[in-house]
Formats: sequence, structure tokens, C-alpha cells
Amino acid sequence: MITGLEDVLGGLSVDDAIADVGVYSDKARYHALFAALRREDPVRWTEPSRYRPFWTVSKHADISEVQRKPALFLNGPRTQLNTIEAEDRIRAVTGRNQVQRTIISTDGAEHAALREISSAWFQPESVRRLEDNVAKIARHSIDRLAEHGGSCDFASDIAVWYPLRVILMILGLGAEAESTILRLSKQMNGALDEENQRSSSQGEHLLTVVQEIFDYFRPIAEDRRRHPRDDLASVIANARMDGQPLDDMSVFSYYLTVAIAGHDTTSATSAGGLLALLQNPAEMAKLREKPSLLRLAVNEMVRWTHPVKHFFRTAAQDYELRGRRIKAGDSLLMCYPSACRDEEVFKEPNQFKVDRAANPHLAFGIGPHVCLGQYLAKVELTAFFTELLARVQHIELDGEPVESRTLFMGGLKRLPIRYSMVRETADV
Ligand code: HEM
Repeated sequence: MITGLEDVLGGLSVDDAIADVGVYSDKARYHALFAALRREDPVRWTEPSRYRPFWTVSKHADISEVQRKPALFLNGPRTQLNTIEAEDRIRAVTGRNQVQRTIISTDGAEHAALREISSAWFQPESVRRLEDNVAKIARHSIDRLAEHGGSCDFASDIAVWYPLRVILMILGLGAEAESTILRLSKQMNGALDEENQRSSSQGEHLLTVVQEIFDYFRPIAEDRRRHPRDDLASVIANARMDGQPLDDMSVFSYYLTVAIAGHDTTSATSAGGLLALLQNPAEMAKLREKPSLLRLAVNEMVRWTHPVKHFFRTAAQDYELRGRRIKAGDSLLMCYPSACRDEEVFKEPNQFKVDRAANPHLAFGIGPHVCLGQYLAKVELTAFFTELLARVQHIELDGEPVESRTLFMGGLKRLPIRYSMVRETADV
């Protein structure tokens, strides 16, 4: 029984609040709700009105326990929170629970084989080889900031473009792909944000967007099969599993996963990280004084912004978790943002600290599905903030920040700022 949350719930039941996009787009409400869940009902059977029921798992230790047992807790059956209407519509059209078949929605040997296809590109040594190019793209982003002339919407003018350019460079897609991928990825992850909606039915919306994305990727995959190049799009298009080429659906889904996972998350972290620095001037000052803290600061930004709000796991057999009897077939909502504020793991979890040294957050997940792009994300964020702190002299908020409306992935969609650049003298 959860008590004392009337202001947070705003008339919703606890179960409806756990699946309410208004709660997710207001971090204070979200964290108040989940702090109470961790305290009073950490593994909670949840029956929200428009969704099939699930267990809400809010503690760091429990999410870790579940995700470290991939044979007992599967990804395949249900990956993310969609309404019953959307789940039924998607199943009727595709015959599966997901609009696409991805590395995230597979298990066991199939998952390992799919992950293997691209994993070499995301290992620390490979990412180190990309550092110069990433730094160039970071520099270009701060040039763009300078061109805006002292004020801009950091989220939509700068943050969304930077990681998009990096991931498209890795995939081998040029600048002409940027605006299409950006629009489609916003529509994929922001299906509950009115600004992105293509249909009042969530299921219809997702199916339409995915079809458009696959139509976009089809000629790219065909081209890379005929003329392979040194890029990730070619590696995926020509990959084989069990001696067979990947089918089109798997190739397009792979492109989509890499493009979206590699972009929305990191842009949300750069905007959320900048906001955290603006709201905590003493932390900004510490970082300016001691730039070597940036490695820790970037990890703290990821914990603080936690751009991925959940994934599901489904129990393959009965299991007891923190005294609750999970039955085979039950699904469990892994609440990463809640784990990132777990007071049993983090000292002063609701403080943003650029020098937080012990920081075993779960914003990148854990276990065999742990984020494939985590090294890349950290390199990107480090390059970006190195450039920003060196070239922007003064920076402040210039209006209200606005969070995107999502239950799944994302962060700030508006971050109005005012700033002055360090005067740059041309070399003579
Ligand atoms: C701050 C940035 C990022 C965050 C917070 C983040 C978070 C996550 C999370 C929570 C998962 C699920 C992990 C699990 O189930 O245990 C994941 C998976 C994944 N991420 Fe990231 N991610 C980020 C950046 C990236 C980047 C830059 C890429 C580049 C390609 C990427 C690619 C992937 C892929 C491919 C998976 C699926 C892995 C699998 O199922 O085996 N992510 N990420």
C-alpha cells in the first residue's frame, strides 16, 4: 500500500501513474513515485487501465538479478510498453509482438549471433579509432552554436544533430539521410508526443512509421550488397547467420536499431547533461576548473538523464524475486531511471555530482543485452563537452526546458539557452 503521494498522482491510481506519460515527462513526479515504490512495493504487480499487466521492478539489485539470468528472463516475448490496442494491432499485422525483429527482441544463440555482427565496431579499440572523426563532428556542432549568435534551442538546434551525424558516419550514410532519420526516429520513440503523431491509434502509428523506415533503408541495403564499402551498413547487409544471409526485415531492423539507439539516447544525455550543469552552477565551476573530471561527469550525466525509461523481460519459469512469486509468462518492467536513483546504491542519489566516483548506474542496462554503444556514447559526450566548455564562456537558461512525452526513450525536446562564446583569434 503506497501512501502520501496524492500530489504526485494527481488523481491517477498508482498503477496508472506507472504507465502515464505525464508522470514520465515530469522528473520530480516520476522520482517521487518510484522512490515510494522502492521503499514500499519494490516488485509491484501492476494493472494499468490500457495496458496488459506486469511486475514493476524498481530496485537496482532486482533489475540486476533479473537481467543477469537471461535464460530465465527473456527479451523476446515483450520488449516495451505498448497499449493493448497497439500490441493487438501489431500482432495482427506482423504475427509478432514487435513491429521489427531486432537484436533487442531476440534471446540466446540468436541474440549472440546478431550482436556479434556489429560488436567489433563498438568495442573500445574500434571506438578509439573513431575519436578524431567524432572530435571533428563535435567541433562542427559548437561552430553551429556560434553561428546561432548567442541564443538557441540547444535541444533541437544542436543536441539532436550531433550524435545523429556520428552514427550516420559509422553506418556510412551521408548528410542527405540526416533529416529523414531524425524525423522518423522522433516518430518511433515519441509515439505518445502529439507533435509526432501520425495516427490516433498507437499501433497504426508505429506500423506506418516502421514501413516508411524500411522503405527508406531498402535501396541502401541493396546498394551495399552490390557495392560493399567499409561501413556498418555494408557489414549488416552482407552478414550471414547459420550460413544464410540476413533477411531484409532483419537488415532493416538492425539499421533502425543502431540509428535510433545510437542517436536519441546520446542527444538526450547531452541536453540533459547541459541542463544539469546549468541548474548546478557549482558543479559547472568544478568542471571548468578541473576538466579532467569530465570522464566522471559524463557518466554522471548518463545516470542523471537516464534516457531509456524501461525494457521488459518475460519470465520463462516460476521465480521468486524479493519474496514475490513471479509466474512463467509474467512480464517485468525494468525501471532503469529508478535504479539510477536507488538510495541503497548511490550516496545522495538526487544530487548531480560531476565528481561522483562510485557510479554503477544501470542507465546502459546490464547483462548480455547491455548497451552495445556505451563506449561510443561516452566518447561522444566527452568530445562534445570538452569543446563546449572550452569555447563557450558564459551560458544560461533562456526559458523553460520541456521534456518529450515518452514512456520509452528520450529526454529534453526544448532547452532554450543564452550564451557568449570565447573570442576566437585566427592563427597568424
Ligand atoms: C547515453 C547513451 C545511451 C544510453 C543511455 C543507452 C542505453 C541502452 C539500454 C538501457 C539498453 C538496453 C540494455 C539492457 O537491456 O540491458 C541499450 C541497448 C542497446 N544500445 Fe544503447 N544506449 C546509449 C547509446 C547507444 C549508442 C551510441 C549506440 C550505438 C549504436 C547504442 C546501441 C545499442 C544497441 C545496439 C543495444 C541493444 C543491445 C542488445 O540487445 O544486445 N546505444 N542501450
